[in-house]
Amino acid sequence: MVIELHTVPSSALTPAQTDDVITLCSEVFRLDYAFYMNLDYERVHVLGYAGSRLVAHALWLTRRLRIGAGPWLTAADVEGVATHADYRGRGYGSAVMRRVQQEIGDFDLGVLSPSRADWYERLGWVRWQGPLYILKDDAVLVTPDDCVLVYRTPRSGDLDVQASLTGEWRPFELW
Ligand SMILES: CC(C)(COP(=O)(O)OP(=O)(O)OC[C@H]1O[C@@H](n2cnc3c(N)ncnc32)[C@H](O)[C@@H]1OP(=O)(O)O)[C@@H](O)C(=O)NCCC(=O)NCCS
Repeated sequence: MVIELHTVPSSALTPAQTDDVITLCSEVFRLDYAFYMNLDYERVHVLGYAGSRLVAHALWLTRRLRIGAGPWLTAADVEGVATHADYRGRGYGSAVMRRVQQEIGDFDLGVLSPSRADWYERLGWVRWQGPLYILKDDAVLVTPDDCVLVYRTPRSGDLDVQASLTGEWRPFELW
């Protein structure tokens, strides 16, 4: 079955689409995804429907990042990448990610924190190798246990993945 992809800003999601995202992501991530959907962040969702059923999903939101001592950059932070367990291995997750990658070209770079880095590497994502920091107020938190991947957009230029990468603090997963 072919999936139909829709790119929808969170402010334009219908109540039914919102319920579909919460149901799919709560099941896949085994948590209450309504918490994330209720956070006050503008997001853009890619919805993958097989018929009337949401079977694959990803979203991005804007995040400020800094490489080394460079300027603050505007990154598309990709979250909520999920395919329903009954629909995996059919290319749906990859199709959703390719749509995300096509649509984040106006950002300085893409960023995500994977549970399966190799799955994203085959889609062109690159592992950050330098130290990872979070800036909270004036404090710098070191996050050595995290894994971060980046995606080069037409605006990225050369990314020095050996340099440090600093993200602004946020009230959920730091990466
Ligand atoms: C990760 C996930 C989104 C993939 O969705 P999917 O729709 O099955 O993805 P696709 O069908 O496009 O890709 C599966 C392919 O990846 C391959 N693959 C599986 N595990 C892999 C791995 N660890 N590394 C590289 N490739 C892998 C499979 O062999 C398959 O290839 P094939 O299609 O050639 O047989 C899905 O497994 C999922 O929802 N997992 C739970 C949530 C999760 O981990 N999300 C990511 C959080 S960062």
